[in-house]
Amino acid sequence: MSAAGLAGRRVLVTGANGFTGRHLVRALLDNGCQVRGLVRRPGSMPEDLRRSMELVAGDVRDAQAVDRAVAGREIVFHVAALYRDTSVSGGAYWDVNVTGTEHVLAACERHRIARLIHCSTVGVHGHVAQVPADETAPVRPTDAYQRSKAAGEARVWAWYRRTGIPTTVVRPAGIYGPGDDRFLKLFQRIQRGQFLMLGSGRLFFHMTYIDNLIQGYLRCAIEPAAIGEAFIVADAQPVPLNDLVARVAGVVGSEVPRWHLPVWPFYAAGAVCEALCVPLRIRPPLHRRRVGFFTHQRAFTIAKAQRLLGYAPAVGLDEGLRRTAAWYQTQGYLRPTNGAARGARP
Ligand SMILES: NC(=O)c1ccc[n+]([C@@H]2O[C@H](COP(=O)([O-])OP(=O)(O)OC[C@H]3O[C@@H](n4cnc5c(N)ncnc54)[C@H](OP(=O)(O)O)[C@@H]3O)[C@@H](O)[C@H]2O)c1
Repeated sequence: MSAAGLAGRRVLVTGANGFTGRHLVRALLDNGCQVRGLVRRPGSMPEDLRRSMELVAGDVRDAQAVDRAVAGREIVFHVAALYRDTSVSGGAYWDVNVTGTEHVLAACERHRIARLIHCSTVGVHGHVAQVPADETAPVRPTDAYQRSKAAGEARVWAWYRRTGIPTTVVRPAGIYGPGDDRFLKLFQRIQRGQFLMLGSGRLFFHMTYIDNLIQGYLRCAIEPAAIGEAFIVADAQPVPLNDLVARVAGVVGSEVPRWHLPVWPFYAAGAVCEALCVPLRIRPPLHRRRVGFFTHQRAFTIAKAQRLLGYAPAVGLDEGLRRTAAWYQTQGYLRPTNGAARGARP
């Protein structure tokens, strides 16, 4: 993925050791950038990346560590977020996704960076009433994670209006691809014949293949039209959940799941699991956000990114799912299927 104009630029990626962060770092290195990453555990960064980039060890909740990471940078991609940990309270999301973002903003202002690309989420729109939704859809977060991302994004816009430092917000939809483990359970359950659809399966879900997202990110860093704008960056089209599940079944070589169960008992059980587990910092076996996968309408349009950024998602859903399944298979997470391609490690 090449983006003219990035060669030689001094870039910081927060959350460089995460799923998105690693892919972004690789793309920036491929484009000749001098990449620095803010990471909590430098030792767990893949060896090849460690050799090709600079690492600053630190937490976004530590303002001094963030300042060290931002010093001397031109472009900052703020990707770090507390996202997958279901065993924590709402306050923990706030500390990382809002206070941590404030630290990044203060450091970017102090060091007068040239450009900030902030990673938000389509989740700030919550359950969208009118589909496909665009960037002007109401901000109506429905859980602690989404509320913290919405508040973090609001801090970014207030800061941009005050400082005028060129800023772009990216709102990805569900990110998947080699290196991701969020969608792994879905693939595994479908392959094992254990998947149960809650509700009708007719609501839409919108996926974002990682290479498509990275293309969007790079365009945000170089396009003048990106400044002062938020972009939904996702695959070309959303799909009904029934369709998504059938396509996953196709790539993992399984029967299409046929069972549908009512949502509400699972939602109630999720609330009970959270109430019992979260105070003890135990990961709840079921939580309401997982049930939300079946109940939230997520269908978006990428027209604005296409128009202003020239964003053109190159990897379609079937190919993205095939590459993802192939990677899970190379890692031993999924049973091989006949004819499955071998994926490269991200
Ligand atoms: N995945 C999706 O479907 C999706 C959809 C929309 C938006 N997003 C957004 O996309 C971004 C990347 O998500 P992802 O899927 O790549 O998640 P991920 O793999 O969990 O990566 C998140 C990164 O943030 C880092 N991080 C968390 N807390 C931190 C802290 N206190 N200080 C410093 N770093 C910290 C993590 O560090 P460690 O490596 O040390 O854990 C990790 O590297 C996030 O901003 C997320 O909100 C994700």
